[in-house]
This record gives sequence, structure tokens and C-alpha cells, in this order.
Amino acid sequence: MQIGIPTETVAGESRVAATPETVKKLINAGHSVVIERGAGVKAAYIDSAYEQVGATITDDAYTGSQIILKVRAPKGDEIQKLAANTTVVAMFDPYRNPELDQFATQQVSAFALELLPRTLSRAQNMDVLSSQANLAGYKSVLLAAAEYQRMFPMLMTAAGTVKPARVVIMGVGVAGLQAIATAKRLGAVVEATDLRPTAKEQVESLGGKWLDVPMSDEEKQRAAEAAKSGYGWQPGEQYIKDQAAIVDKAVSNADIVITTALIPGRNAPRLIKAETVAKMKPGSVILDMAVETGGNVEGSKEGETVTTENGVKILGIPNIPGTVATEASALYARNVFNFLETLFDKEKGFAINQEDEIQKALLVAHGGQVLLKRG
Ligand code: NAI
Repeated sequence: MQIGIPTETVAGESRVAATPETVKKLINAGHSVVIERGAGVKAAYIDSAYEQVGATITDDAYTGSQIILKVRAPKGDEIQKLAANTTVVAMFDPYRNPELDQFATQQVSAFALELLPRTLSRAQNMDVLSSQANLAGYKSVLLAAAEYQRMFPMLMTAAGTVKPARVVIMGVGVAGLQAIATAKRLGAVVEATDLRPTAKEQVESLGGKWLDVPMSDEEKQRAAEAAKSGYGWQPGEQYIKDQAAIVDKAVSNADIVITTALIPGRNAPRLIKAETVAKMKPGSVILDMAVETGGNVEGSKEGETVTTENGVKILGIPNIPGTVATEASALYARNVFNFLETLFDKEKGFAINQEDEIQKALLVAHGGQVLLKRG
């Protein structure tokens, strides 16, 4: 089959969906690969590296391709270029994508990688949310550190002692855990919290202090139930109130705050209020990793650094994985390749199999229908 790798068109998107490593594997598996001129260059994968492994450089990867691999879902004109029966594998942002109907209308099969059932062990090597969040967690600390006008580690110098930075991490999933590890390596004192009580042990094993929000027996039971799917639970009024008080105290004393709390398919929870930000010291830095889905921090703005009246910088940096584009593309491309393998049956060749747990979960448009369950 011909597999096409178009250039990403979303502003600031520097990743690419296939690297020379994965293109080589696709070609070894008997496919032909066409890649748009310069598609990988922002991620440091140059055209000649793709040519060396057998890809063809083109000005239009859509024409003649039966499978399209992308980082972001095709939009507008790109969708128009998709022939009937093309299969697209990408991050579709499915719950917020207003164009899913268009893929169905054009008889395109669309696989949204974000919908991977994460608790399936055979799906772990296809998990784009984890691979990208891991890198983003690391980079978020470096981005915050670069804005912070003080140091992370404690230093004893002839000119006096430098205090270590106090870092608070809100949301301890994949990104949060990597942020804790990175901040600790830089020498900071780290505190962290999450809805999921099981995160306590992970925080402590990385040398962080757990910010404990009291939970009723009923809440513990709901959290345990939700944990089976790998995600958090919907907190009630009392928990939100208690959490706000604990966050207020920890954040007011912090030098750096990194928020990573997301709720799949919904807007991010608002965890830090403006009145808490107003209590922070001048020069403190908050990085809101959830800024693209509504933000965890009151006052954060996507693509902007907001400096508050009391001198706190709130960073609203979108697409942090795109700031480590080489590595992020390498991991993403491997995730895509691993998923693609599920679409090829040894006997039947390419076949979309809706009985397959993974394919079924990811397929958001097929046979002229939108298959995503909303709500
Ligand atoms: P995420 O990116 O959806 O959210 C980040 C974190 O924010 C989560 O830990 C979540 O509990 C937390 N959060 C959400 N609302 C919050 C609130 N109101 N207050 C405080 N914290 C809040 O989550 P991510 O990083 O994608 O992973 C979530 C969980 O899934 C983790 O336990 C992770 O280890 C697990 N996981 C399991 C996998 C597997 O079993 N193969 C693969 C990937 C993740």
C-alpha cells in the first residue's frame, strides 16, 4: 500500500508522524512511503534521511495514498484531499473536533490515537498520550526553570546560601510524575497532589511530599472503581473545597507550580484560583500544561505569558511535546507504527477489524458514519 506522510499544517506543530526509522520498517514490510518535502525538518528529520531508507519525497502526500499518517487530524482543505476509502491515523482531538462528520461524508476511515484503551497491556506501545506527556512533563520543568530568576538547587557559596526552589505539581499522571522526577534532579523540594490516592506512593518514591486531601469512604470507593480504567473520578463538593484549601496553602508558598490535570474528553478542572495566585511571591512561575483545554489556572492564556500584579508569571505554553519535536516524533512515530501493525492481517492483508478491541476503540469514522460516542 502507499502510505503518505503530509507536512503538519497547524501553527507551531513541529512534530512529524513518521521518522526514517519507522519509514524503513514500513518499506521493509512491503509498503511504499511518500513524504512531503520538508515534513520532518522541524523535528530534525531531513528529506535525504527519508530518501536513504527508500521513501519518495513529494509535494502532495495525499494523492495516491491509501493510508495517511499525521500528528494532528487533517483539517479543512486537507480533508478534501482524502479519497474515499483512505485510512487516516492521527490525534483527532475527537471530542472537540468539529469536522468528524466530514471524514464520514468522504467515506474516510479515521483512527483517533487518543482513544486507546490504556489498560490493555498490548496497547501500551501505541499509547501516544503517555509517550507525549512523559516528554512534556520533563520539558515543562525546564521551561519554568528558564523563566524563574532564581535557582533550583540549594547552594552554599562564599556570598551566602541559595535556597532550593519549592515546586508544587498538581496532577500526577504521566506528565506530573516526570515533572516531579525532573524537578528533583534539578535539586528542588517537591510537593504534589492528585485525585487518585494511588499516586501518593509514586510521588513519595520519587522523593516528593504528598499533599493529602481527605477522602470519605464513599469517595475512596469511587476512586478505586475509576482506577480500574486508569483514570480519576469525578470529585464532589466537599473534596473540591478541601482540595482548594490545601492547594491554596501549598501554592501560596511555592516558587514554581506546574499543573497537569486533565479529564479525558472534557475541559480541564480549574484548580488554582486567582486569589491563590495573588498570595504568591513576586518572581514565582506557574506553568499551566492544561491551557489548551481550558486551563487549570485562573488567568492563564494559551500562547501567552501573563504577569500578574503581584509579579507572578503564568506560562500558557501550548503543545509542549512540540518543543522536543525530535524525540516526541520518534516516540509518536513508533506508537503509530505499532498501531498500524494491527491493521495488517497475515492472510487477508490490510483489513479494518471492528472486532479488534484496539481498532474498535480508535475508529471514529468509518463506512460513512461517525462512530464516536459523545457525552
Ligand atoms: P491525564 O493526563 O488525563 O491527567 C493527569 C492527571 O491529572 C491524572 O493523574 C488525573 O488523575 C489528574 N487529575 C484530573 N483531575 C484532577 C483534579 N481535579 N485534581 C487533581 N488531579 C486531577 O492522566 P494521564 O497522565 O494520562 O494518566 C492517568 C492515569 O492513567 C495514571 O494513573 C497513569 O499511570 C495511568 N495510565 C495507565 C496506563 C496503563 O495502564 N497502561 C497507561 C497510561 C496511563
